[in-house]
Amino acid sequence: MLPALTVPPLALYVHFPWCVRKCPYCDFNSYTLNGALPREPYLARLEKDLEAQAPQLAGREIISVFFGGGTPSLFAPDAIARLLETARRQLKLAADAEVTLEANPGAVERGAFREYRAAGVTRVSLGAQSFDARSLGALGRIHSPEETRTAAAELHAAGLANFNLDLMYALPGQDLRGAVRDVEEALALAPAHLSHYQLTIEAGTVFAAQRPSLPDEDLSAAMRDECAAQLASAGLCRYEVSAWASPRAQCQHNLNYWTFGDYLGVGAGAHGKLSFPASGEIVRTTQLREPRRYLAAADVDLARRTIPQRELPFEFMLNALRLTAGFSAATFTSRTGLPWQAVEGQIRAAIARGFLHRGADRFRPSERGLEFLNEMLVDFLPENPEKPSGSALSMATPKPLPGAVRPLFTAIRGANGE
Ligand SMILES: C[S@@+](CC[C@H](N)C(=O)[O-])C[C@H]1O[C@@H](n2cnc3c(N)ncnc32)[C@H](O)[C@@H]1O
Ligand code: SF4
Repeated sequence: MLPALTVPPLALYVHFPWCVRKCPYCDFNSYTLNGALPREPYLARLEKDLEAQAPQLAGREIISVFFGGGTPSLFAPDAIARLLETARRQLKLAADAEVTLEANPGAVERGAFREYRAAGVTRVSLGAQSFDARSLGALGRIHSPEETRTAAAELHAAGLANFNLDLMYALPGQDLRGAVRDVEEALALAPAHLSHYQLTIEAGTVFAAQRPSLPDEDLSAAMRDECAAQLASAGLCRYEVSAWASPRAQCQHNLNYWTFGDYLGVGAGAHGKLSFPASGEIVRTTQLREPRRYLAAADVDLARRTIPQRELPFEFMLNALRLTAGFSAATFTSRTGLPWQAVEGQIRAAIARGFLHRGADRFRPSERGLEFLNEMLVDFLPENPEKPSGSALSMATPKPLPGAVRPLFTAIRGANGE
């Protein structure tokens, strides 16, 4: 008999697909905003989505909300307040729910953070990327280092000290000193959380077509290690491949993805994952990706796919192996509904290769395991040749924050991220 699938915690992801300008390295579901922001139609469509998805939840509580993008900060605080109100009306939002808003330092009104906080935002994730004006230029960013500093100061002043800075390293023309300086500059702004991603060249981006010259593998590894030492000496702990924070400031929303929790996905291209213990099914939901089509659809057109059991080990490990704290066998069985024997052999092999440590009640990736995540993950791929292409594994590299994760099946279909 299979172990019982249990109901995991539930989060809500809301996607905003527009940016002031599309960055040449970015393969997220985001588009340059041409003309006026379709504020009213988009908000109304999101509300309709929330309403349509609520009945299947049977009163389950939402533990976190993430407004991601694209650039959600293009929507003014009253829009975010309105959505949170709708979410409260349609769903059961936990009183202490973490509510994160992604913001671009070049696309947020001065003084708006106070209002976002009043609207119910408890955490902000700021796309700093670098503090070097030349690097920002090469990345096509719309803001200066000074604008990031101003935004961080405003966050502190607004009582939103619980903020994250996104930084990237191994940038075009960057040297070791430059990468470390970026981390020092970021730490000087006293963020509660820092995400540190190696710039990767993604298919379909401008950088893929006109590849910039990037630091080689050895230099990139040296940057990662030097920056890690800086982050650790500043008192931040690495709790995920690319995420650093004190235990109090870990991102609850992302932790829920990485522990294979459930989430509702609302907005253009957003994915969801929902577990139904009564039928033993885990279902992926996908919204129409293209904003115009998403907006035009008269009815809520949500694609649903039950994840085949053979794909669950890889799906679980793709998330759980990113965490420095690893996972327990009990979490694996209760979140997938599979017996431990489904992965026992691969786990034993990963331990033998030095990728995984066995603790009293958990399995934790070693330093080597975190570095060679892809090699460890290959062993969990489904036997059946509906195999993901290389892109499934590129998702496992220390790359962008999965404000909305890129589940295995999207990769199988060769589509882009969320
Ligand atoms: C979806 S973006 C949202 C943040 C916001 N739109 C911004 O850029 O200011 C999340 C983060 O992913 C990271 N990212 C995006 N594309 C990347 C790439 N090709 N390689 C590494 N990191 C990337 C960036 O650090 C970015 O801040
Ligand atoms: S990195 Fe952020 S601002 Fe740039 S295109 Fe992607 S989502 Fe938009």
